[in-house]
Amino acid sequence: MDLQLAGKRVLVTGASKGIGLAIVRSFVAEGASVTAVSRRSTPELEATGATFVAADLAEPDGPWRVVEQVLAADPRLDVLVNNAGGGDLPEGSLGNVLEGGDDIWLDVFELNFHSAVRVTRAALPALLEARGAIVNITSDTARRIGAPGSTPLPYAVSKAALRTFSRGLAERVGPDGVRVNTVSPSATRTHLLAGEGGYLSQLADAIGVEHSAVLAGLPKDLGMLTGRLIEPDEIARAVLLLSSPAMPSVIGADWAVDAGSVKVA
Ligand SMILES: NC(=O)c1ccc[n+]([C@@H]2O[C@H](COP(=O)([O-])OP(=O)(O)OC[C@H]3O[C@@H](n4cnc5c(N)ncnc54)[C@H](OP(=O)(O)O)[C@@H]3O)[C@@H](O)[C@H]2O)c1
Repeated sequence: MDLQLAGKRVLVTGASKGIGLAIVRSFVAEGASVTAVSRRSTPELEATGATFVAADLAEPDGPWRVVEQVLAADPRLDVLVNNAGGGDLPEGSLGNVLEGGDDIWLDVFELNFHSAVRVTRAALPALLEARGAIVNITSDTARRIGAPGSTPLPYAVSKAALRTFSRGLAERVGPDGVRVNTVSPSATRTHLLAGEGGYLSQLADAIGVEHSAVLAGLPKDLGMLTGRLIEPDEIARAVLLLSSPAMPSVIGADWAVDAGSVKVA
């Protein structure tokens, strides 16, 4: 199938590793011209040939500066993928997040919600001009209420907010030719889950269980019907389809790539 992505100009955030890196590779393989954003580059990202722009998107002015820089180099933009997210597990986020200050909530929302909203707002004029597409990466956690202490509530809420923002935005810009959709992965084999020092290993430390044991049990614990973690390439394929002009009627959708783990009809 020709996805009609050759020559398209694409911006991917959170691109140095994991799901973002897989998304960059997939667009490059389709012949797209990709700009990749994260705080640091990696040899794997460099090998893709994508243009790298360094930015901390959790800083309030980071998203605006990065989009300005990208559009100054070339004012065209056909596809935006807001993938940056996850981040570190803020201290105390598995405890009673209803007590204490606002810091945990604010930190998690800056990276997982506000960064995507800011990048989108900055890039929207160019995307409207191109009648392009936006794909936001949310999470199964937005629809899964785990036991207290198993899923940090602020993260789940921030991803639910991103879904609702995306659906509302789809309604506003759909008539002008910009398609907005989300992909909601479940447990995917990336640094966030599998890496030492990643989110899951911090979570394992916090609850006093071996990281390897939590990781091994995760597919079963989450009810993933494949019994294994999802590979980043699977998420990237969904993103390519949602970005493609070959799918003009897919608007405001939330595509779950979760191995059936979210048990709702
Ligand atoms: N893996 C999963 O199981 C899973 C499940 C559901 C949803 N997701 C979502 O999928 C997305 C990608 O996750 P992943 O698993 O691929 O994570 P990952 O392996 O930790 O990669 C995260 C990417 O985001 C970048 N990043 C982090 N903080 C940033 C910041 N402040 N500014 C700019 N870039 C930043 C990282 O690069 P730098 O550190 O160099 O900045 C990296 O490129 C996230 O939105 C996550 O919430 C993941």
